[in-house]
Amino acid sequence: MRAAAGAQFYAPVDGELRELERRLADVGRGAHPTFREAVAHLFTTPGKLLRPTLVFLAARFGSLADREVVLNLAESLELVHTASLVHDDVVDAADLRRNIQTVNAKWNDDVALIVGDYLFAKAYALAAVLPNPEVIAIVAQTVFALCDGELAEVTAARALPTESKYLERIELKTASLYAACCQGAALLAEAEPEHVAALGAFGTNLGLAFQITDDVLDLVGDESEFGKTVGRDLAEGMPTLPMIYAVTERDGDSPALAARILAPRKSPDELRELLAIIRRSRGPERARQRALSFHDAAVRALAALPDRPERTALRDVADFVVSRVR
Ligand code: IPE
Ligand code: IPE
Ligand code: MG
Ligand code: MG
Repeated sequence: MRAAAGAQFYAPVDGELRELERRLADVGRGAHPTFREAVAHLFTTPGKLLRPTLVFLAARFGSLADREVVLNLAESLELVHTASLVHDDVVDAADLRRNIQTVNAKWNDDVALIVGDYLFAKAYALAAVLPNPEVIAIVAQTVFALCDGELAEVTAARALPTESKYLERIELKTASLYAACCQGAALLAEAEPEHVAALGAFGTNLGLAFQITDDVLDLVGDESEFGKTVGRDLAEGMPTLPMIYAVTERDGDSPALAARILAPRKSPDELRELLAIIRRSRGPERARQRALSFHDAAVRALAALPDRPERTALRDVADFVVSRVR
């Protein structure tokens, strides 16, 4: 069952989503048994499927309605997302995602690396048959951006980034994929250039709001709803926007709290204490406000689109992204 089951924005594209879920469950067919098992495991809980939902909704703003082609793009981009999560969980040494074990935890890092590669290859195979070379290029460029963002994160000096450095990173690692879903689908469906641009701007701002909210939930979320271990970013010494704000508030730019946040391999007591300090600060609330400002920019971009049920659904996705608990 979809992780955000019941949300009303799925309704206009429910038929396409059901077909997509069927295809995702089938991705392992004919492949190595371990890959088949990993696929079965990964898609027992398919996640929120926000990216394919955006593909299906955005495609409705074009004049061309080729369901098969749009399904291929949606599947390709959801597989890019899934592959990047499988690899990211190795990078972040994460044990839990969607309330179940990660591939690295259930098998091991080697298996997770290869399963991720397999999923990326599947994603490219689907993109390769798209009729529009510009959209094929978008899929590849999105993976470049994603890698740039993840590399920027793992190679960063152990220092607190500025807000603008943080935003640059999350635009690469997260927002680029959201933009690709909206813009790529609009291009495939031969939407008007100004509608393609509006959907691209919507996707970028939505993606920024999404990742900031995710980073807040990593600090203050409820683990069983969030489906991921709370406090992972802090445990890993990975600074996020609510932490940046907490440090600035607490001691100007003094290094004391920053150094504690950035330290790798914290003791459970230190982690608990730091979580309490950050939760007591205005950092999470200020970060939520920042996410809301990107939400508002996303909603403003929608004004350029014709008023249709799909536009209302996109607005609902934006509202969900900043109010979600999972
Ligand atoms: C998780 O994305 C990865 C981030 C960019 C933070 P989602 O929260 O959309 O993942 P699923 O697919 O719904 O599990
Ligand atoms: C997002 O990074 C994952 C990718 C964009 C690959 P995070 O590390 O913040 O996401 P979660 O918290 O693992 O889902
Ligand atoms: Mg992670
Ligand atoms: Mg990460």
